[in-house]
Amino acid sequence: MALKSGDIAVDATLGLGGHTMDMMEAVGPKGHVYSFDQDLEHIEVARTRIKETFGKEGLKRFTPIHSNFVDMRERLHDLGVTSVNGILFDLGLALSHLTRPERGFSFQHEGPLDMRMSRELNLLTAADIVNTYSESDLADIIFQFGEERLSRKIAKAIVEQRKKAPFATTKQLEDLVFHAYPANLRHGKSHPATRTFQALRIAVNSELEVLENVLPQAVELLAPHGRVVAISYHSLEDRIVKHFLRSQTRDCVCPPEVLRCECSATPVISVLTKSPVTPSDEEVAKNPRSRSAKLRAAEKI
Ligand SMILES: C[S@@+](CC[C@H](N)C(=O)[O-])C[C@H]1O[C@@H](n2cnc3c(N)ncnc32)[C@H](O)[C@@H]1O
Repeated sequence: MALKSGDIAVDATLGLGGHTMDMMEAVGPKGHVYSFDQDLEHIEVARTRIKETFGKEGLKRFTPIHSNFVDMRERLHDLGVTSVNGILFDLGLALSHLTRPERGFSFQHEGPLDMRMSRELNLLTAADIVNTYSESDLADIIFQFGEERLSRKIAKAIVEQRKKAPFATTKQLEDLVFHAYPANLRHGKSHPATRTFQALRIAVNSELEVLENVLPQAVELLAPHGRVVAISYHSLEDRIVKHFLRSQTRDCVCPPEVLRCECSATPVISVLTKSPVTPSDEEVAKNPRSRSAKLRAAEKI
């Protein structure tokens, strides 16, 4: 992010505050970090950690914002912030989402079929989707957001099963997906339910839609030479980041009848990462969850 002393930085995904604290370190006592998270529990944990690390003084140069980052421009404008030097997106779930059974993200634990990153701001749960969506909508979600080839078979099995009793828990869905898979494919590299759970989580939290909507806001908010950095963990997110950044690097050549093209009239950023930065073998050995991470970065012209 190339942050300097006195800079204003935005952490779009505060989590437990690891990156925010690094950013606070980089911008120093004269700078400020605004950090978004839609999960109130994470904001509370991060606040405590920041206070422990930087003391009460530190809390004066950190502003937590309990909001979906899709409202970034509006929420920052409300605080009088219209231009920033760096914005970071560390997308997806935090480890604490996966390890707490009551959040319903993991099929490895019995829990309610919830998957909302924000229990305060989101209304729709994964159980609502599997119990009420049509078979074809379920198949589309599982195919598009999970890239699951057996999406139709799984959607059909879900609809058959829910006629007997609605789905309430993670293990009920895991068991159904496991048995919807042909026996010879049930013990592959990843568990059969992995893709279906990913798809539902993306749908519940509108993850791709919010990412598409926030990236133009981020570029707009950047001061000249400010940087936007995004770390994504699956190809659907990475594709959105890649295409958006590319669209901002060239003159628009869309014909006039394209009313809502994504291109900018003239290039507004330069991409700093020709191909995405990925973790070294050493980092993956230390932190296996980093293995799918892809980082892309761009600088405002
Ligand atoms: C991968 S974790 C970030 C971890 C963080 N970088 C750290 O150092 O602890 C992603 C965090 O972003 C939050 N999050 C994901 N999507 C969000 C969104 N659209 N709006 C606001 N917060 C979001 C999640 O609740 C989670 O706490």
